[in-house]
Amino acid sequence: MKNFAGKTAVVTGAASGIGLALAEKLARENMQVVMADVEEESLEVAVEDLRKYQLPVSGVVADVLVEESIQNLFARAKAEYGNIHMLCSNAGVGANPGDKAIWEVDKNEWDWVMGVNYQGVLHGFQTFIPHMIEHGEESHLMTTVSAAGLLSGDGTYGVSKHAVLALTEGVNWDLHLHGANISVSVLCPGFVDTNIDKSERNRPGHLSQSRGPAVEAEINPVASLLRRGKKPSEIADIAFDAINEEVFYILTHPLYDELLRDRFDKILSRKPLALPSAEERAQFMAKFFALRDDGESF
Ligand SMILES: NC(=O)c1ccc[n+]([C@@H]2O[C@H](COP(=O)([O-])OP(=O)(O)OC[C@H]3O[C@@H](n4cnc5c(N)ncnc54)[C@H](O)[C@@H]3O)[C@@H](O)[C@H]2O)c1
Repeated sequence: MKNFAGKTAVVTGAASGIGLALAEKLARENMQVVMADVEEESLEVAVEDLRKYQLPVSGVVADVLVEESIQNLFARAKAEYGNIHMLCSNAGVGANPGDKAIWEVDKNEWDWVMGVNYQGVLHGFQTFIPHMIEHGEESHLMTTVSAAGLLSGDGTYGVSKHAVLALTEGVNWDLHLHGANISVSVLCPGFVDTNIDKSERNRPGHLSQSRGPAVEAEINPVASLLRRGKKPSEIADIAFDAINEEVFYILTHPLYDELLRDRFDKILSRKPLALPSAEERAQFMAKFFALRDDGESF
């Protein structure tokens, strides 16, 4: 997508972290931005904060788990600004299965993680793409996937992110075959310093965990890695440049390149998949995270 100014973007999960940074970046690039989030209070604060800089943003409370809520988001955005030119499907939650193996994760956990991270993106596509095709003006779809969507492991979260990647790749093909004036990208960050480790705050009551304690943020090892990750504003800057250059796979963390190469080498080797022992894995992780000393974020 080459022209941003004067156009309208909708960003889901815009009250915090990467979504908030994306909303700010797009508004600073002179887009009208509809910020959508399930958390009403944080959304109000986020919208007010950006308006203090005279940025053209508005807020709509929307729950991506609920199809009607996304349809309402679309209707509100269209009523306020007319044609919508960009959808950043960014709302997401980090799974919190404790030490459960993937087959032990209960239905509520699957429904929540897949519901927000995958189904929420699908609802957005189903609602916004027909409108973008109909108005025919240059438009863009970006999904916030994760490095977890390109690598293996990572439990329910990894499954949900692989699903969104496959969905977005599929949509990109279909839009291409339809000759639609809509470009597509997938944002695949490594660790970013956001509130994703506190995702439980957004779990609806009807999908509460039926067993297993939630891992508290203070003792969650992921939290300390997140705090040392990239800043959301860095991710938003990289994403914006990549959209402008029509890059599909937006890889924000070069440290993961080696892991990606290794994954595809293993696939192409046609050999038995040798998984590391617990000790080898611990050694590898220690080495990987020590790379941060070289100044690069993970
Ligand atoms: N932080 C990271 O290290 C990282 C890395 C890779 C990918 N991601 C992805 O980035 C995206 C944004 O997460 P973040 O890290 O900024 O976390 P965050 O918790 O700071 O922000 C996520 C936002 O999504 C909102 N949200 C949650 N459930 C929702 C729902 N049902 N409907 C609407 N909004 C909802 C939250 O209220 C929050 O404002 C997610 O898709 C996440 O998987 C994050």
